[in-house]
Amino acid sequence: MSVGQVIAVVSQKGGVGKTTTAVNLAAALARRGLRTLLVDTDPQGSVRFGAGLRTGHETAGFSDYLAGTRALREVILPTSLPWLRVILAGTVSDAAEHEHYLARIADTRVLHDLLTMARERCDVVVVDTPPGLGPITRRVLEASQRALIPLQCEPLALQTTPQILRGIGEIAKVNPALTLDGILLTMVDEASDASRRVQAYVREHLPRALVLDLVVPRRAATADAFSAGQPVVVRDPGDPAAQAYVNLATLLAERIGSA
Ligand SMILES: Nc1ncnc2c1ncn2[C@@H]1O[C@H](COP(=O)(O)OP(=O)(O)OP(=O)(O)O)[C@@H](O)[C@H]1O
Ligand SMILES: [Mg+2]
Repeated sequence: MSVGQVIAVVSQKGGVGKTTTAVNLAAALARRGLRTLLVDTDPQGSVRFGAGLRTGHETAGFSDYLAGTRALREVILPTSLPWLRVILAGTVSDAAEHEHYLARIADTRVLHDLLTMARERCDVVVVDTPPGLGPITRRVLEASQRALIPLQCEPLALQTTPQILRGIGEIAKVNPALTLDGILLTMVDEASDASRRVQAYVREHLPRALVLDLVVPRRAATADAFSAGQPVVVRDPGDPAAQAYVNLATLLAERIGSA
């Protein structure tokens, strides 16, 4: 049986569209018929709001499995899409402090073993991470085959990019299987001169091969779908942002070899 791949969605900066990308990429891959698992490792736990979970779903998740209070099968949740399953962040997202969670991730192999086990049962595992290269993101990257970096198309966009690229480079030394899928420009406003200028600047200043040609436009439908608890690729598939995520899924499925 072929083994699937783990795609980590990471960025140094917060609020750049990681969760939106993770949720929509996972949904678009699942709609292609790939057995997909979406895992939320960010203690903010935002995936629970937009992944299209069935009403009345379980709120326990990865942090509860990590703490040993829930079995794995209890935290793998079905969604409205037959091929998409989700592991939420769990009760850590309701807690004021995350120290135990961070320490357990850093000091144990639970996350690594979970992602390795998940690859054996799925075609793709998409992992949402907190901003920055802290212990959670490092552990995720150590167990991933691919990394995708959303970059919000705004004037300060480039400032933090070297840090995350350096971090991924360092982790690739201990995890040689890790490849960078690229930088994905998000929230691009094609109608705005400023946004077009930033896009041109980003493409000029970063190595060409690193920045994906396809971009995700800024579209109200994306945030509206999230507020309604659904990925935009499910709620509004004709929207340009949804189409961008579908194209991203096609590109990655081809690279993974499951097209
Ligand atoms: N293409 C888009 N068009 C319009 N709004 C978007 C788009 N992508 C993301 N957003 C909105 O931008 C905000 C930040 O997005 P998101 O939560 O995905 O970022 P994040 O990188 O996961 O943030 P954090 O670092 O806090 O986890 C959200 O309100 C989201 O709905
Ligand atoms: Mg997020």
